[in-house]
Amino acid sequence: MRRLVPLVLIPVLLVPAAPAQAGAPPATGPTASGYGGAVSSVDPTATAVGLEVLRRGGNAVDAAVAVAATLGVTEPFSAGIGGGGFFVYYDARSGRVSTLDGRETAPRSMTQTAFVNPATGQPYAFQEARVSGLSAGVPGSLATWDTAVRRWGKRSLATNLAPATDVARRGFTVDQTFATQVNDNAAAFAQFTPTAALFLPGGQPPAVGSTLRNPDLAATYDLVARRGIDAFYGGEVGRDIVQAVQHPPVAAAPSRPWQYEIRPGGMTLADLRAYEVRQPAPTHMVYRGYDVYGMATPSSGGSTVGEALNILERSDLGSLDRTQALHRYLEASALAFADRNRYVGDYTPRRLLDALLTNGFAAERACRIDPLHAATKPVPPGDPDGRYDTCATTTGGASTDYGKSTTNLTVADKWGNVVEYTLTIEQIGGNGIVVPGRGFLLNNELTDFNFTNTQGTADDPNLPGPGKRPRSSMAPTIVLRDGHPFLALGSPGGSTIITTVLQILINRIDLGMTLPEALAAPRATQRNTAAVVAEPAFIAGPGPALGALGHTFTPMAEIGAATAIEFLPRGKLLACAEPVRRGTGSAGTVR
Ligand code: GLY
Repeated sequence: MRRLVPLVLIPVLLVPAAPAQAGAPPATGPTASGYGGAVSSVDPTATAVGLEVLRRGGNAVDAAVAVAATLGVTEPFSAGIGGGGFFVYYDARSGRVSTLDGRETAPRSMTQTAFVNPATGQPYAFQEARVSGLSAGVPGSLATWDTAVRRWGKRSLATNLAPATDVARRGFTVDQTFATQVNDNAAAFAQFTPTAALFLPGGQPPAVGSTLRNPDLAATYDLVARRGIDAFYGGEVGRDIVQAVQHPPVAAAPSRPWQYEIRPGGMTLADLRAYEVRQPAPTHMVYRGYDVYGMATPSSGGSTVGEALNILERSDLGSLDRTQALHRYLEASALAFADRNRYVGDYTPRRLLDALLTNGFAAERACRIDPLHAATKPVPPGDPDGRYDTCATTTGGASTDYGKSTTNLTVADKWGNVVEYTLTIEQIGGNGIVVPGRGFLLNNELTDFNFTNTQGTADDPNLPGPGKRPRSSMAPTIVLRDGHPFLALGSPGGSTIITTVLQILINRIDLGMTLPEALAAPRATQRNTAAVVAEPAFIAGPGPALGALGHTFTPMAEIGAATAIEFLPRGKLLACAEPVRRGTGSAGTVR
């Protein structure tokens, strides 16, 4: 998202404190190369904040938290303290990759049939489930930031929140993407008094070019800075969250109609107090000599990207013609999604997740790719049972969920530490409810659960449950070569996140593209559905040749909004964001 920082912010955020920093390039373009640290995000204000934190001695973790908090102000419909996310960290001193699971969590009162209407026995329509208290999980972002800073940061959470607080208080300039996102959600936002007051001033989306201030969010950040995250996880902010979930602040006379009943949720203060950030071992696999680290459950990102890469490693993509390489990418992705849908959820045993990433299983799955014909979708899942000499089959369903919500950021510092962080409130606009007096939207992450069993007679690993975390597709990924960072990347986009990360990796590693080319290339996503969802440029480009192999296409205007950093020789950094998608991203380096 391209958004200019209002002039009043420039002395605070952009003017360097020391003469050595004079002449630093403004963080406005989608590609930057240089030294001393780098930041890539969807938003120039957030990227500028991150670079300034790095210039002032903060490390990658400090900068990532400051960027995330700023995105909570300027990208409030994609992420914020009302949501959650997954944080992957490479520590230069130890050479280790660690992860934080800050996923939203179902309240302890949630049942397996929470999204089935008891009056009809049918699952709720998606928007009925989404715009409700029912869909809000216990948020994890603030606890993630606190854990990250305590474990690896050089500055306090309070210090890292300060620039975002400043942006919220002074305001930022509304751009077209922001106004469009409000417009697309205007009916939902109009149902809730505090949401309409913040984002629909005078009943309309804020004008492009106007300044939007969020003093309530500034005060919330200030409160957390002074009192710590307990103010949120059980204190006065927590009480307001619970009130908003249990008694959604519906407007007496909404300015726009809404066809669904607005249902309350069951989150309690005890649920907030019980929230914990998990610290699982990352997923790991080796692809053509590169060590690929990703996020374990409840995200399916690491295992699904990793399984697809493992299947693809059975072909020499670089020596195939472009049609064959893309055909195998689409087929491998469908196979990996079949296995994700069958096996991956919050309670998947680690040995099963690791089995999905074995070479034996990948070889068995790869034998199902016919170079001359696209398989009929959905393809069935495989059986990761350790006996891989035949092509076993079972039955299974398709994956259809996708979206443009969520945001991603990538940060590297001068010490060599790297953060890859994907965070979200699920749909653009979350569940539509701004917590009264607190200035942030709640998530609708619990709609990432399957409402009913999608796996026929087999168990569905992603049904709702008490205290359970919904399966995610977020795939923050760090790639090492010879033990040192080579690439860090991630993207928003619901379940298309997985294929966006996968496609960028094969574009860069196998298909001879530079990193900016790998991000810019037209995208297609095959998540085990009858048709491939693809950007118009993909359909117009390789589409006809792939069509001859049996692939069919459904157009989608744009897929994902990636950010990435490549680590070049002699400490040089190549920071990349989207050149066009989501209104253009913003990358910058310290020097
Ligand atoms: N809400 C998007 C995801 O977690 O994948």
